[in-house]
Amino acid sequence: MSRFKFELRNTPQWQNLEKSYKEVRKISLRDLFKDENRFNKFSIREDNLGLTFDYSKNIINSDVFRLLMEFVKAAGVNERARRMFSGEKINWTEKRAVLHTALRNRSGKPVYVDGKNVTTQIDAVLKKMEKFSDDLRSEKWRGATGKKITDIVNIGIGGSDLGPKMACEALKYYAHGLSVYFVSNIDGADICEVLKKLNRETTLFIIASKTFTTIETITNALTAREWITGRLGKDAVAKHFVALSTNAGKVKEFGIREDNMFEFWDFVGGRYSLWSAIGLPIVCYIGFDKFVEFLEGAYYVDLHFLNTPYEKNIPVIMAALGFWYNNFFGASTHAVLPYSQYLCRFPAYLQQGDMESNGKTIDFEGNKVDYETGPVIWGEPGTNGQHSFYQLIHQGTKFIPCDFIGFIKPLEEVGDHHEKLMANYFAQSEALAFGLTEDEVIKNLEKTGVSPADIELLSPHKTFEGNRPTNSILIDKLTPRTLGALVALYEHKIFTQGIMWRVNSFDQWGVELGKALANVILPELKGEKTCDKHDSSTRSLIEIFKSGRKE
Ligand code: F6P
Repeated sequence: MSRFKFELRNTPQWQNLEKSYKEVRKISLRDLFKDENRFNKFSIREDNLGLTFDYSKNIINSDVFRLLMEFVKAAGVNERARRMFSGEKINWTEKRAVLHTALRNRSGKPVYVDGKNVTTQIDAVLKKMEKFSDDLRSEKWRGATGKKITDIVNIGIGGSDLGPKMACEALKYYAHGLSVYFVSNIDGADICEVLKKLNRETTLFIIASKTFTTIETITNALTAREWITGRLGKDAVAKHFVALSTNAGKVKEFGIREDNMFEFWDFVGGRYSLWSAIGLPIVCYIGFDKFVEFLEGAYYVDLHFLNTPYEKNIPVIMAALGFWYNNFFGASTHAVLPYSQYLCRFPAYLQQGDMESNGKTIDFEGNKVDYETGPVIWGEPGTNGQHSFYQLIHQGTKFIPCDFIGFIKPLEEVGDHHEKLMANYFAQSEALAFGLTEDEVIKNLEKTGVSPADIELLSPHKTFEGNRPTNSILIDKLTPRTLGALVALYEHKIFTQGIMWRVNSFDQWGVELGKALANVILPELKGEKTCDKHDSSTRSLIEIFKSGRKE
């Protein structure tokens, strides 16, 4: 099939960046910081969020920054963002609108999809979530035997798990009353270990699945249903199960009543769904008012993204810098390092958000790209990461741009923990940027009386090249509002990069093949079918597994 081929690498915007890269890669951050005004030039303060975004420790000068902004402009990010916010079907391979932004639209302005104002439906579901969580928290909603519900188990996977799990962990300081658990893995160990801790009479299951066909979720849900009905009887399902889904038919088939279903719609992508009914565990955990604050934080960033010139637009700049390293410096990964234990699930959440969105090779016209697209996203909370993988970031051969996320006020003020934590936050990005030259190392060793022979031995090992780029996001306090803002910043970064790479960030066909093959293999493992089409490796492994199961 002959398709029009858009040669992104031949555009003047790409070519200009390519030329600049050859110059800029020779410059060090030590040199760039001779400009005392550099922080002021390359940082943004959002007073309304209490958020500072410092991108001065990146390998850019004013010319590169201008060229990056020209690239974003030529890509048409703003125009495409407006099309997304207004409900156009920009997810063209699934013929769907992309409206997670409508879920947190606090303006009261309508948003139309196929001529229908979706904000009316969204508001109705939000009200239903509010009532349900109030009933649960005020003990009006009780289990089948009349006992109050004390524990909620969310059963879901991917977007129906990672978002609410990350947010409940992040906002646990604000929680009161109910405990929340998450089960996602089809490995029976996941659900069994959770059920061991729980009492049937006081447990409520939230079955979260956009499609309500995902094998992991349905398998876990059936196990949970059996666990409840085995002791409490079939009628107990009505008091111990609710569903979050777009698929009313399948929910009913499972045995969950329609009034116990919280609806969302196909214009909400799984990995963008924590603002929808999928956020129900968050609502139950921290209360509806706090959930609204979470939505408000994201809405604030939506307006920032839509209305701020690119040069002051935080998600656009995050995207442009990631693109700079990914496509010119050959960085294939990007680390997200929150200096907050509460954000321990944030990197895992972003892995789906970013990698399922931009892990693509086919461009707008359906051609294979001849440049790199989405990076591998990874990370752990500081300071744990420092004692594990930071060695490689500082002195390894890989080039890894990092985001450091920290807070000024801790939620738990204990002794000097926070100062110690944040001293590390500041120290790490400083060390990564400026390193330690061999001369400095030698001087330090001489001062401490190390012998010349040992100085010769040690100095190359103790040298840090520096010039490792970082962004620092420093926020006054972790609240539902600032968490909502932080998530939305990354969402719009991902969106912007998708446009820059000219890929559809909203489909996920890449997860389908493995699912289909698992469905072929399952009856073989159960001994119901045989198949001679596997390669010798897969066939042999299956045989070893089957004979091991017989023993
Ligand atoms: O397999 C990937 C995926 O489709 C994700 O995009 C989604 O978040 C996840 O599965 C779960 O899907 P569902 O909510 O339909 O169970």
